Amino acid sequence: MEPSRHRVPAAAALLVLVAVAAVVGRCGAQLPIPVRTDGFLYGGKSAAPAWGDAVVVEAFFDPVCPDSRDAWPPLQRAAAHYGARRVAVVVHLFPLPYHSSAFMACRSIHTVHKLNASAVYPLLENFFKYQEGYYNMPTYTKTRAAVVAEIANNLVAPVIGEANLAAYRAGFNDSQSDQATRISFKFGCARGVTGTPYYFVNGIPLSDSGSPMDYNKWISTLDPLVGKM
Ligand SMILES: *[C@@H]1O[C@H](CO)[C@@H](O)[C@H](O)[C@H]1NC(C)=O
Ligand SMILES: *[C@@H]1O[C@H](CO)[C@@H](O)[C@H](O)[C@H]1NC(C)=O
Repeated sequence: MEPSRHRVPAAAALLVLVAVAAVVGRCGAQLPIPVRTDGFLYGGKSAAPAWGDAVVVEAFFDPVCPDSRDAWPPLQRAAAHYGARRVAVVVHLFPLPYHSSAFMACRSIHTVHKLNASAVYPLLENFFKYQEGYYNMPTYTKTRAAVVAEIANNLVAPVIGEANLAAYRAGFNDSQSDQATRISFKFGCARGVTGTPYYFVNGIPLSDSGSPMDYNKWISTLDPLVGKM
């Protein structure tokens, strides 16, 4: 009789655990599905190759991350070397939680994308160029509103023009740009992105992710793939 008295609570506890796990799993499993897949195709829609016709390089960048900044020129050079028909480059924004301006920076780019898709890469490059002003230390005592205003005036306005700033400010406030930025973050999490830059080639993660990959490494990675098409 002794052993069974212990077994019943143990079995009950296990059942409860399984039930809790099932409920938690159900609540947490389905991420919001965006209306379009995340990411910005480099070169724009006119450069889009047919599905399956190009090697696809996906890069996850944080606009205020120095390694993302350093990673872009060599990837851009490799993209130019092959051309968009052979190597399609897609940049996903990934706001790292320990960069205090990252979410605002990514939201800014999503906002601009809605106004003028051609302005996405010029704005990303502006962030890379001036990101040091938006690191944690220089913005530590600034309000969020001040940082948002600085981004609008110093980085966005030169790209989209002063005349479009009102539309930009309204779009930045809109919940849609907030949602798009959350999706970018969740999209990266769902694919196991743990830092930036983070790369996938034809969907497969590269082990060099986490630090900038130089031009020669891109060529040695992509040449065997491009040559086989
Ligand atoms: C969109 O942005 C690009 C890049 O900044 C610019 O050349 C172009 O004139 C803009 N288009 C419109 C309609 O504002
Ligand atoms: C954006 O939201 C803030 C806070 O709610 C508000 O003070 C500001 O006027 C809004 N700006 C625009 C352009 O909608």
